[in-house]
Amino acid sequence: MSSTTRALARRRGAAALAAGLALALLSGCSVPREPVPPVGASTPPPSPTATPTPTPTPTPTPTFDRAKRSIDAADSVWVVANKRRPLQPETYAPADLVRVDVPYTNEPFLRAAAAAAAEKLFAAAEAEAGLRLQSLSTYRSYSTQVRVYNDIVASRGQDYANRRSAQPGHSEHQTGLSIDIGSIPASCAFDPCFGDTAHGRWLAENAWRFGFHLRYPQGGTPVTGYDYEPWHYRYVGLELAAELHETGIPTLEEFFGLPAAPDYGG
Ligand code: DAL
Ligand code: ZN
Repeated sequence: MSSTTRALARRRGAAALAAGLALALLSGCSVPREPVPPVGASTPPPSPTATPTPTPTPTPTPTFDRAKRSIDAADSVWVVANKRRPLQPETYAPADLVRVDVPYTNEPFLRAAAAAAAEKLFAAAEAEAGLRLQSLSTYRSYSTQVRVYNDIVASRGQDYANRRSAQPGHSEHQTGLSIDIGSIPASCAFDPCFGDTAHGRWLAENAWRFGFHLRYPQGGTPVTGYDYEPWHYRYVGLELAAELHETGIPTLEEFFGLPAAPDYGG
């Protein structure tokens, strides 16, 4: 950790964090086919006077415009922050945070669009599958991220902290677009085993329908720089979430052709 970060940690150390937070963290282009006649059926030769049947023109697969929104601007819903892509500026704070009306352990705030989507996601989990969810962590300011990161370094060491928590200015929680989700009753909170729970499985299959993306997937560590976090969902909007789901591309870095970000070097 840099001395600047340490200094900020001391200056901003008053921000309260709920106990436990720091410790607990895929179109195919269908080719039109001629109908196959039933076996034994004879096809009469075409009459020379018959009007030729127009050849159907395949409808081109709509091309997703990956440059439609910025991945650099901190206030873009497509922003990509990682160990090699700090937020700009590093102390960025979103202007449209609102309280998220869902059960929680830490009072939840997200940007307005993400908050509305999260409320729909939680409601759908209960209505469609009888699964109750709770928010564990949402927006974290730069100063809160200082505290979270430093607490984990203090308790588990820097190598562990760097696999579980972003350094301040590098966390997508600071964009107001990320939410850590747990179950009610609580089970496997901030633990990889959450991915094997009914709640975790439902989220992995359905979150995209509400504009969310599993940001730190299993096997993604060499690209994202973080361990598997089946609880951490990033709001990217309906269009991008659906494209990520349909293409099966697991990470934002791969989708946007960005370099892997395994560490803070480079
Ligand atoms: N746990 C994720 C990587 C964060 O701290 O933003
Ligand atoms: Zn998270």
